[in-house]
Amino acid sequence: MKRVSLTQYLIEKQRDKGLIPGELRLLLEVVARACKRISYSVGKGALADMLGEAGSDNVQGESQKKLDVIANEVLLEANEWGGHLAAMASEEMDHPSLIPNRYPKGEFLLLFDPLDGSSNIDVNVSIGTIFSVLRMPSGVTEPTEQHFLQPGTAQVASGYAVYGPSTLLVLTVGDGVACFTLDRETGSWWLTQDRMHIPVSTKEFAINASNARHWEPPVKRYIDELLAGKEGPRGKDFNMRWVASMVADVHRILTRGGVFMYPRDAREPDKPGKLRLMYEANPMAFLVEQAGGACTNGSMRTLDITPEKLHQRVAVFLGSKEEVERVTSYH
Ligand code: AHG
Ligand code: MN
Ligand code: MN
Repeated sequence: MKRVSLTQYLIEKQRDKGLIPGELRLLLEVVARACKRISYSVGKGALADMLGEAGSDNVQGESQKKLDVIANEVLLEANEWGGHLAAMASEEMDHPSLIPNRYPKGEFLLLFDPLDGSSNIDVNVSIGTIFSVLRMPSGVTEPTEQHFLQPGTAQVASGYAVYGPSTLLVLTVGDGVACFTLDRETGSWWLTQDRMHIPVSTKEFAINASNARHWEPPVKRYIDELLAGKEGPRGKDFNMRWVASMVADVHRILTRGGVFMYPRDAREPDKPGKLRLMYEANPMAFLVEQAGGACTNGSMRTLDITPEKLHQRVAVFLGSKEEVERVTSYH
C-alpha cells in the first residue's frame, strides 16, 4: 500500500477540498519540522545534556526544565522567518513574541505549550508539544496580546506531537483528526491513522487522585460512582490511568476512548484549574470534538469560552461523550 506523507495530506486538504490556504499548509509543515527537531533532542536525552533544570521560572511561577526552554526556542526560531505568522505566544513566555522586522509577516497567530509533561522529562516517560493556530483579526497590523484572546471555535488548526516509543503528530484542520508517525531514519512524517474516533462510552478514566480531598462535590460524586464499579450506580468496573503528560493521556483517549479530568479544586480557589486554556485546553478540545468526543470546563463547552488572559487557567473534562456529558451534568 502506498503511504501518504504529511505534505501530501495537507496538499490534498488545500487543493482537492479547498479547506486550508497554502500559507496555513506551510505553517503546519514548519511546526512539524520543529517538533521533529524537539523529538531528536528528547531522544538524545542525557547524551546531549537535555535533562534537568534550566534554573529559571516561567510566567506561571513554575520552574523551567532545560527542555522547556530548548523546545520553546526551537519553535520560535523555526516559525519566525516563514512569512505566514504575525506573532507567537507560549506557555514559557510572559508576552507574545512578534515576528522580527527583517522577516515578512503573515495572517496567522501560533500558540504553543512547547513541552507538555515536564515532570516526565527526567524519568523517560512520554512528553509532547501542543499547538493552536488562530487568524489575526482583519485590519490589524501590530498584533498584541488582545488579538490572541479569541474563543477556541476560531482555531483554524490545532494538534500535538507526542515523544513516546514512537514520535507522533496528531492534527486537525477542522476536517477530522489525522495521526502521522515520524520515520526517525528518513525524517518523514507518514499518515498512520486518519479519521481518529473516540468511542462514545468507555470504562477508563484519568484524574490525579492525589487531589481528591480538594475536589468539588460534583467531581467527588462522579469519581465515587466510577470507583463503586459493578456494584455501584454505574453497574460496571472502571479502570484508571494517569500519565501526567496531557498529550499522552489525550492520545490514549483518541486511540481507545476514556475520560480525562483536571478539575478546579480548593487548593487555590482563585485558580480555575491547572491547565491553560489557550495552548492546552483549546487545541485539545478542537481535536477531541473533531474525533467525536466532547470537552467542557464543567459548565460549558470549552471552545465557547471567551478568553480574558493569555495564560488563563481552566478546568478540563474531555473525552468520550457520554462520560463528559455526565460529569458536566453533575455540576
Ligand atoms: P506542563 O508540563 O506543560 O506544565 O503541563 C503539565 C500538565 C499536563 O500535561 C498534565 O496533565 C498535568 O500537568 C499533570 O499535573 P499533575 O502533576 O498535577 O498530575
Ligand atoms: Mn502542558
Ligand atoms: Mn509545558
